[in-house]
Amino acid sequence: MSRVTVRVPAKINLQLAVGPLRDDGYHELVTVFCALSLWDEVTVEGSSRTLITVDGENAAAVPLGPDNLAWRAVELLAAEAGREPALAVHLHKGIPVAGGMAGGSADAAGALLAAATYWELGLPRERLLQLAAGLGSDVAFSLVGGVALGRGRGERLTTIETGGTCTWVVAVAAGGLSTPAVYAEHDRQPGPAGPPEPSAAVLGGLAGGDPYALAAAVSNDLQAAACRLRPELARTLAAGRDAGALAALLSGSGPTCLFLAADAMHGARLASMLSAAPGVRRVHVAHGPVPGAAVVPGG
Ligand code: C5P
Repeated sequence: MSRVTVRVPAKINLQLAVGPLRDDGYHELVTVFCALSLWDEVTVEGSSRTLITVDGENAAAVPLGPDNLAWRAVELLAAEAGREPALAVHLHKGIPVAGGMAGGSADAAGALLAAATYWELGLPRERLLQLAAGLGSDVAFSLVGGVALGRGRGERLTTIETGGTCTWVVAVAAGGLSTPAVYAEHDRQPGPAGPPEPSAAVLGGLAGGDPYALAAAVSNDLQAAACRLRPELARTLAAGRDAGALAALLSGSGPTCLFLAADAMHGARLASMLSAAPGVRRVHVAHGPVPGAAVVPGG
């Protein structure tokens, strides 16, 4: 095999319930992840040393050294397999960079799967998921895809069956927002004490495949904190509601905003209205759930 390409989806959180800060610096979460049809492509091939290159939207904002989770994924897998981490990793970005859609985690998941395939390691899927969970809170979900309930810091996953696919308009903001900064701002005005619970309304809306039921149920505990840090986000969310979105929701820790549409036609209309909204740099129409990381045949 001269090279391997893996395609990995973005994620959104249909519920993001943030519990107490733990001793390890992470927050206890209950979250409902959904994989969305914006994709990064991760290609690996042989090299004398670890090397990262990037192209696609906002590629200049992606770190090229050990700060990149894909780099750490290659090093981790090489240590696991007892080999030199000699791989060139090329990232083709379709997921907004630093947007709260797990783009960095997707690249780590893609690099793990691509490198394991390239080196023909034959690792059990369970082991790959364990390695993924050690790299970051969202990396295991990027491998699994679909819809899953996440607990712990988001890495303990239970797959959820759903009754259909929903259309989402994704409004990408100019610039990123730091995930630790948004969690820290949340901690200044935390919600109710005690461990969060999965939302029966979100799970029911997903089971019925009903966008209206889902719209009434989606929630993100980080939304208020992100809007305090970046007040323009509240205006973007309001613009989507005014344009007729069934729901307006911050994606993860932001600053990307999500708007649920009734169907694909409605999504296209919303997207054209939102492209002129305050603070919106770019708009995508996407659908989910979609499958997790997968090797592209012949890629
Ligand atoms: O695990 P990941 O690298 O995605 O997390 C980035 C940062 O987000 C953490 O360092 C932490 O500040 C914050 N975080 C958190 N609780 C979580 C997940 C992330 O506080 N469950």
